[in-house]
Amino acid sequence: MPDDILRFDSVSFAHPGAAEPLFRGVSATFGRGWTGIVGANGAGKTTLLRIAVGELQPSGGTVLRPVSRLYVAQRTDDPPPDVREFFESGDAEAWQARIDLEVGDDWEGRWDALSHGERKRLQIAIALWRSPGLLALDEPTNHLDRPARAVLLEALRRYRGAGLLVSHDRELLDALCTQCLFVTPPGARMRPGGVSAGMEQDRREQTAARTADDSAKHAAERYRAAAQERREEGERMAARTKAKTKNAKANKWDHDGKAERRLAKLTGKDAWAGKQAAALSKRASRAQASRAEFHVRKEFAVGFWLEDAEYSRRNFVLRVPAGSLPLGPGRTLVHPDLEILPRDRVALTGPNGTGKSTLLRFLRTRFNVPEEHLTFVPQEITAAESADILADARKLPDDRLGFVMTRFSRLGSRPGRLLDSAQPSPGEVRKLLLALGIARGPHLVVMDEPTNHMDLPGIECLEEALAAAPCAMLLSSHDERFLSGLATVRWNLEAVSPERVELDVSPYEPG
Ligand SMILES: Nc1ncnc2c1ncn2[C@@H]1O[C@H](COP(=O)(O)OP(=O)(O)OP(=O)(O)O)[C@@H](O)[C@H]1O
Ligand SMILES: [Mg+2]
Repeated sequence: MPDDILRFDSVSFAHPGAAEPLFRGVSATFGRGWTGIVGANGAGKTTLLRIAVGELQPSGGTVLRPVSRLYVAQRTDDPPPDVREFFESGDAEAWQARIDLEVGDDWEGRWDALSHGERKRLQIAIALWRSPGLLALDEPTNHLDRPARAVLLEALRRYRGAGLLVSHDRELLDALCTQCLFVTPPGARMRPGGVSAGMEQDRREQTAARTADDSAKHAAERYRAAAQERREEGERMAARTKAKTKNAKANKWDHDGKAERRLAKLTGKDAWAGKQAAALSKRASRAQASRAEFHVRKEFAVGFWLEDAEYSRRNFVLRVPAGSLPLGPGRTLVHPDLEILPRDRVALTGPNGTGKSTLLRFLRTRFNVPEEHLTFVPQEITAAESADILADARKLPDDRLGFVMTRFSRLGSRPGRLLDSAQPSPGEVRKLLLALGIARGPHLVVMDEPTNHMDLPGIECLEEALAAAPCAMLLSSHDERFLSGLATVRWNLEAVSPERVELDVSPYEPG
C-alpha cells in the first residue's frame, strides 16, 4: 500500500455512551492532494479525522491508513508535543516551515501568551515540517487574518501527501481541493471538485431526488385510490349478486336458465374487480417502497429573530476613558475615550496579534449592562468549559430548555445529538452559548470572532438575526463580509511601531 492512500470501507462509529451511532457504512477513498471535509457543526468532521489518523477505532468496517499520519487539532488549547524539537531542529525543512508560516523566533515556550492565530500557524508549521503521508487539518483558517490565510494557502499547496481539510472557508476549499466529502450523519458522500461545485451538485441531486420522490408518492396515492374504487365496485357487485341469487332461487319460471347465466356473469365480474384491487394495491406498495431509494434529506427550519432583545434604556452601554493596556513584554495598546451607545454596532478589527481579545477581556467587566442582559461569546471555549456549559443547560427547566433548543436547531445543528453528547463540538457549543444568551434578552451582544468554528448556514442565520436585532453589538472579526452587513462604527487596531498598537475610531466603511 503506498504511503499516501487512505481508504474507508463501510465504516461505522459511535461515541461511547451515545444512543445512536454517528456513522453507518461510510466508504470513501482519499488519494494524494487535498480532500475537503464539510458538514454542519456536530456532523462529525473532527470525529472522522480522528478515525482517519487512527486516534479512534471504528466499531464496524475497515480503515486502510498510510503509515505516517498526523492530526492537527481544531482546538488551540494545548501546544503540539514536538514544539521544542521543532525549534531545536536546524534542518532546512524546519526553517522553511518557519518562514512559510511566519513563525516568530521567540514563540518557543510561550504557548499561553500566543494569540490563537499565532498558535494555529505554529501548529501547522510543525505538521508541514513533519511531512506525513496523511495530514488531517481541522479548521486551519480559524483565527487567521487575510494575509495569514494567503500565506497558509501557499504553504498547503506545497504538501505532497494525502491531505484532509476540514473547513468552512469556501475560498480555501475551492482553491485547494480536488474532491470534497459531504458529511451528513450517518452517511457521507464524496463529490469531485471544490466545495462550490460539490454544493451545486448536491443541490441538483436533492432537487432531482425530491421530484422523483414526489412523483412516486403521487403514483402510490393514485394506485391506492384506484384499488379502493375497485374494491368498492367489487363489494357493490357482490351485494347485487347476493340479491339476484335470492331472486333466482325464488324464480320458478327460469326454465331456460337465463337468470342463472346472468348471475354467473356477475359473480365473475366481482371476482375480477377483487383481483384488480389486489394488483393495484401491490403497485401502490411498490411505488411507496421505491421512495427509499431517493435519499431525500430531511430539511430543518433555520433562521431566527432575536425576539427578546431590546435597546438598553441607559444613556450608554460602555464608557471608558482614554488609556493603555499591556500586550505582553514591551508592547502597549493605546486607546482614546471609548463609548458604545445603546444602538451602536461596533466592528473591532485589526491584524493577528494586535490585541483584540485582550481589549475585549479588559472591557468584559466594564459594560454598563446588567449581567443577565449581556451575551458574551469568547473566541475560544476549552473542552472542559464546553462540557460545563452543556451540563448547566441540561439542568434548565423543561420549557426553558425547549426554548433554547429551538434556537439551537434554528442555527442549523441537531439538538438531539448535542444533548446526547459527552463533549459538544466547538461549533455546537458556540451555537449553544448564543441560544442561551438570546433566551435572556440581550441589551448588548459581544462576540470574539463569531464566524470561527461556525458552519455556513449558522453564519448566515447569525448574520440575519444580528442585522434585525434591537440591541448594541461589539463584534471582533476578520470576516469583513460578515461585518459589512452589520457594523456602524469601526474600532481598528494597528501596530504603529513594534512597541505600540493604536486604536482608531471611525464610522464603519467596508474594508
Ligand atoms: N467524546 C465524545 N463523546 C460523545 N459525543 C461526542 C464526543 N465527541 C463528540 N461528540 C459528539 O459527536 C458529534 C460529532 O462531533 P464532532 O466534533 O466530530 O463534530 P464536528 O463536525 O467536527 O463539529 P464542529 O463543526 O463544531 O467542529 C457531536 O454531536 C458531538 O457533540
Ligand atoms: Mg470539529
